[in-house]
Amino acid sequence: MHNIREVPLIMLGLGNVGRALLRQILAARETVTERRRVRLVPVALADVSGLLCDPAGLSDETLERALAVVSAGQLVAAVPGAQPALTLDAVLRPGTILADLTASPATLPTLHAALACGAGVVLANKLPLGRRWEEARVLFEHPNVRYEVTVGAGLPVIATLRYLLDTGDRVARIEGCLSGTLGYLCAQLEAGVPYSEAVSQARALGYTEPDPREDLGGKDVGRKALILARTAGWPLEPDAITIEALYSESLATASTEEFMKALGVHDADYRERVGAARTHGCTLRYVAEVCPTGGTVGLREVPQSSALGALRGPGNYVALYTERYAEIPLVIAGPGAGPEVTAAGVLGDILALASSGYA
Ligand SMILES: NC(=O)c1ccc[n+]([C@@H]2O[C@H](COP(=O)([O-])OP(=O)(O)OC[C@H]3O[C@@H](n4cnc5c(N)ncnc54)[C@H](OP(=O)(O)O)[C@@H]3O)[C@@H](O)[C@H]2O)c1
Repeated sequence: MHNIREVPLIMLGLGNVGRALLRQILAARETVTERRRVRLVPVALADVSGLLCDPAGLSDETLERALAVVSAGQLVAAVPGAQPALTLDAVLRPGTILADLTASPATLPTLHAALACGAGVVLANKLPLGRRWEEARVLFEHPNVRYEVTVGAGLPVIATLRYLLDTGDRVARIEGCLSGTLGYLCAQLEAGVPYSEAVSQARALGYTEPDPREDLGGKDVGRKALILARTAGWPLEPDAITIEALYSESLATASTEEFMKALGVHDADYRERVGAARTHGCTLRYVAEVCPTGGTVGLREVPQSSALGALRGPGNYVALYTERYAEIPLVIAGPGAGPEVTAAGVLGDILALASSGYA
């Protein structure tokens, strides 16, 4: 075959998404090469414990072994040949793509270094994008950065927004349900399940973080709203998004165990709010809304018969109101979480970057 380009790939983070991506790269390699004339060559895999690295490309045998080790719950450091130090100097070079698949606030300097040396960056990690505008700006403005899965996982939310802007449309506001976990909670409340039970169930099913306040606090949704706003061209600071937490301030400092025991104090409140919504023909949804001057994230009454009211479980929904889509918004909806769809979205970003001609 002619003109097949090798694109070196660095993967930071081998959690659910990182492992799914590595499996997809190994499984889809021939298809990708045939369709895109690109061969992805993993040159480094890293987690917090260490780094596996070979500038000539890690062998499939090493990749399979790494997958087996991390899938069994061990860290990269346990893979034979891993180095403890996290220096990417040997592999960071122009034309390489670095994928941040961590949930770490500490990767920003590495991402800046990658861009400075001419590498491309793909993010599943929202945290660097949610920093102060001055620190995050380069990630939104640099042509070699992609971050599709940070909002709506595999759904083409960012790509659609970019296409509208690229073709001269102007975005007026964006609204949506951006959390599967909080979508589940709202649907349970609507079905009459008490708040305390709904939160405990969501936690037992693994829908929430071990400390459910991580989800109930709304910060993750707030970060997604900020990413949408900044992509739309509105350089908002994080505090321009007002966030309603789904627990009271008095429980903010309790231990996880104390918090779980105290959940019942909110049952009456939420029962009342669900009841009030019902008398208006509405139901409650955790809605994010942004416009050029700021945004809000919180519980809102929406008509039961509306698209938002019909959402269930991990369903995400994003409505883009623009000059061209003024009356009826452009809507993107579907499952907004899950390692497989998220990894596929990351792979799509990597291939788009590899094909964009910079690599
Ligand atoms: N799962 C989804 O449906 C979904 C959807 C959209 C976006 N995302 C985003 O994708 C990212 C990954 O999600 P996940 O579900 O795979 O999370 P996860 O299972 O918690 O995996 C995170 C991985 O990153 C590693 N890590 C942490 N800090 C690191 C650092 N400084 N350098 C290198 N590796 C580091 C962790 O290593 P240790 O285990 O050693 O700490 C772990 O391997 C998150 O930012 C998440 O918000 C996930």
